Amino acid sequence: MRKATARAGSNIAFIKYWGAADPALNLPLNGSISMTLAHVHTTTTVEWAPRGERPVDTIVLNGLPLAPAQAERLVAHLDRIRALAGVDHRARVVSVNNFPTGAGIASSASGFAALTVAACRALDLDLSPTQLSALARRGSGSACRSLFGGFVEWRQGSSDADSVAAPLFPPDHWELWDLVAVVDRQEKPVSSAQGHRLAHTSPLLEGRLRQVDGWLAQVREAIAQRDIHSLGTVAELDALAMHSVMMTSTPSLLYWQPGTVAVLHAARAWRAQGIPVYFTIDAGPNVHLLCPADQVSALRERLASVPGVEQVIASGPGPGPQLLDAHLF
Ligand code: DP6
Repeated sequence: MRKATARAGSNIAFIKYWGAADPALNLPLNGSISMTLAHVHTTTTVEWAPRGERPVDTIVLNGLPLAPAQAERLVAHLDRIRALAGVDHRARVVSVNNFPTGAGIASSASGFAALTVAACRALDLDLSPTQLSALARRGSGSACRSLFGGFVEWRQGSSDADSVAAPLFPPDHWELWDLVAVVDRQEKPVSSAQGHRLAHTSPLLEGRLRQVDGWLAQVREAIAQRDIHSLGTVAELDALAMHSVMMTSTPSLLYWQPGTVAVLHAARAWRAQGIPVYFTIDAGPNVHLLCPADQVSALRERLASVPGVEQVIASGPGPGPQLLDAHLF
């Protein structure tokens, strides 16, 4: 086998990964818990050929060939996989996201998960899901969680082998939905990778890390009980704690836009009216609203009238990576 295609879902974290204990290995300062998304995914085909036949890696993302500088992080990941397989092959990689490019939705989690699975499969590398999770983590921390479906925990660990994700509950455990209120489509000015390195400069980092183990326990229990109020309360708290760390880093990272704040206030006002909805925010301005499946259409409508909301992307829990027979080339 030299060619394989994999699809992997993105994920939304309820307790976030922010701050690296080891930036080279992407070992985190804390554990995190997320839900893998069914409707927000990346599909990637990888074909390997001996260097004599194909002198360089080529990568096409959403129809556009990547320039060498843009491809660097992906080529570094291909290097890891080549080293594992003991080959010097070069790859042709074609990858598409099913969500609008430039919607301000992070694609690195689904992207590195799909790339890892397809590239290893195409080299007949027989790795377990746990080993694939460790490998995907090297490309993008949050990608290690996209190696499993449903509700997933990334245990902090202390080494390359044990800082890996594991499933908590399958996707059909709970019809929880994530509605992404897109308020800004621009690429973020400071990448998560840079942000993870800055976390140490915040005087608030220690305070967040002291709380995180208790919050992880509450989130595990809330998911087990399908308790949106308990889950949402702690997910909001951790998102605000993470953004407090970001804002108080040096230099300060302020990802929020006016539309971000408008959605936060709207969510709390709707909640005061009895709607079970809670927010979380990644390293960007867009707001993720968490709610039970039966609230999705009403909340979509309400979001459309919040100032600054340009688009809403919605998804429930989805499966782990899948190998597809239909290749992209
Ligand atoms: C805020 O290091 O996984 O989404 O730099 O895009 O690869 P990339 O991101 P990553 O950081 C994710 C940070 C986060 C929180 C989370 O998903 O846990």
